[in-house]
Amino acid sequence: MSPRSADHAPAENPLTPRDAAVSGLPEQAAADRLAFWAQQAGQLHWDTEWDQVLDWSDAPFARWFTGGRLNVAYNCVDRHVESGHGDQVAFHWEGEPGDTRTITYAELRREVCRTANALLSLGLTAGDRVAIQLPMIPEAVFAMLACARLGLPHSVVFGGFSPAALQSRIEDARARLLITSDGQYRRGKAEPMKANTDEATKDTPSIEHVLVVRRTGIDVPWTEGRDVWWHDLVDAQPDEHTPEPFDAEHPLFILYTSGTTGRPKGILHTSGGYLTQAAYTHRTVFGLDADTDVYWCTADIGWITGHSYLVYGPLANRTTSVMYEGTPSTPHEGRHFEIIERYGVTIYYTAPTLIRTFMKWGEHIPAAHDLSSIRVLGSVGEPINPEAWRWYREHIGGGRAPIVDTWWQTETGAVMISPLPDGPAGKPGSAQAPLPGLSAKVVDDQGQEVGRGESGYLVLDQPWPSMLRGIWGDEERYRETYWSRFADQGYYFAGDGARYDEDGDIWLLGRVDDVMNVSGHRISTAEIESALVSHPAVAEAAVVGASDPTTGQAIVAFVILRGGAAGTEDVAAALREHVAREIGPIAKPRRIMVVPELPKTRSGKIMRRLLRDIAENREVGDVTTLADASVMDLIDARLKGGT
Ligand code: PRX
Repeated sequence: MSPRSADHAPAENPLTPRDAAVSGLPEQAAADRLAFWAQQAGQLHWDTEWDQVLDWSDAPFARWFTGGRLNVAYNCVDRHVESGHGDQVAFHWEGEPGDTRTITYAELRREVCRTANALLSLGLTAGDRVAIQLPMIPEAVFAMLACARLGLPHSVVFGGFSPAALQSRIEDARARLLITSDGQYRRGKAEPMKANTDEATKDTPSIEHVLVVRRTGIDVPWTEGRDVWWHDLVDAQPDEHTPEPFDAEHPLFILYTSGTTGRPKGILHTSGGYLTQAAYTHRTVFGLDADTDVYWCTADIGWITGHSYLVYGPLANRTTSVMYEGTPSTPHEGRHFEIIERYGVTIYYTAPTLIRTFMKWGEHIPAAHDLSSIRVLGSVGEPINPEAWRWYREHIGGGRAPIVDTWWQTETGAVMISPLPDGPAGKPGSAQAPLPGLSAKVVDDQGQEVGRGESGYLVLDQPWPSMLRGIWGDEERYRETYWSRFADQGYYFAGDGARYDEDGDIWLLGRVDDVMNVSGHRISTAEIESALVSHPAVAEAAVVGASDPTTGQAIVAFVILRGGAAGTEDVAAALREHVAREIGPIAKPRRIMVVPELPKTRSGKIMRRLLRDIAENREVGDVTTLADASVMDLIDARLKGGT
């Protein structure tokens, strides 16, 4: 089946040809995939040319551009200064309280060099891991790039994660350094950060130093000898640092993401292939013009989108970006539109959950701003419903900007499936087809490709440059999670359902495993269940994602209390707080239902399908496989009883 078809009506999304670099890509990629990737890699600066584009002999562990050596930070920063673009703005940064900072490539280079020198002064050497928990401030980018420059794999932990979540990530990676800040601005308030990270590092012997950025000026607990202020250490360093090349397969970062078990997986990405694909997809998907575009990806650096499309892809392409620290409603609901207008943003890349939030707030809010600079809109993180797609295009895109609906994952490192900016018309709600050089299929249970108009599982049937190189410290889990489901065919199982339409375009249908997608954040049911049962009042818990008009899915928990006690408002509130403490506020269940039993099969497996029916207020489906069919009546009676 030819994945990209040009024969559907061009009405909805007339993508205009813009960047000559994009045209001809599909043909080149189809002619020789590896030569195509070599050509993309060739747009980076390599200190040593590679011997082989792809070594797949140890599948599913890929090695791309073997023998090649490069420095990722040099590619993202120095080479642009050396080619005469030092005065170009790399970031228009805006803080939540309204403070701003303009960072040119020359300044970025100085800051990254200083930070790298500071990390060296702390005794770090290539291969050491660095944990980073920071708000969306420029130092977060400096820190990531300084790590990349020195070959120190970073592990960025989202600022909203709890001390317990940070601690387990630090322990898993055995990080030597933690970089954090005194506090962070959230919804107009300065919230503590260092106080939380101190709780996380109470019991992490691998951490030797904590480097602290002063952001809010709030008081912080301090451990003499271990803790160091950024402004004391980094600001005193020399501006110059000579980057050293690293092997193409040198680890660049670990990023933890949720899987189907309670334990987050440390997804490992390496240097050459990752940067090649992050840069290629960024310039191709958005039809980037580095000289004129002002690009804004709203993702937090704590997620993969922040890594690939706020830091590495855009900087490798010498992009001028906007970076914003705070929430979209602080101090008012027009904040994003004000920023778009102020900086003349031409490319805006965000998540459907935010678009639906904007819809809720009302179209008069974007209408009060001049958004005419926008020429491409991007969507990522979850399926975009056609209604949100149309609203986005109409009210943010002026009815003319094309929308690129980009499908990918933490594991894929960069975009895999997306419309092309000069491709055929977009379809609201469809990511359409793999980008040139990439390949995906929709298959049935047996791994056979399904026909047009049919649904199945999304698989990636060819290795790709930015693919994960494994799960940190757990080779077996990597094989089992991604490669065992379709082992005969050697396909990567993405965990998503998908459908081909009559044109052969791909529509993503959401996760087929026990992973939820809440506001574009990936959260596992098992992780929340284990947090709930760690509370002394809880005997058993089952969590499902119920569909929600704004957040995509909402977390609904069913719990059995110890001794079969009935629930109260206080218990539910205490359990929600407990989950927030264990994992982070993003994992707080929307609803907690206290039930006397959980529906289970004879083999003891919880039937989430039935719980989802209850959570979504539907007639409960087929109960014949339940070990005890009367359980549903018991649950129903208890819930009706108002407990
Ligand atoms: O279910 C898919 C959904 O997000 C999952 C990956 O989540 P994460 O690793 O956190 O990365 C999010 C940002 C890339 C996928 O398995 N997803 C992501 N993008 C889309 C999507 N679902 C539908 N359409 C998309 N464009």
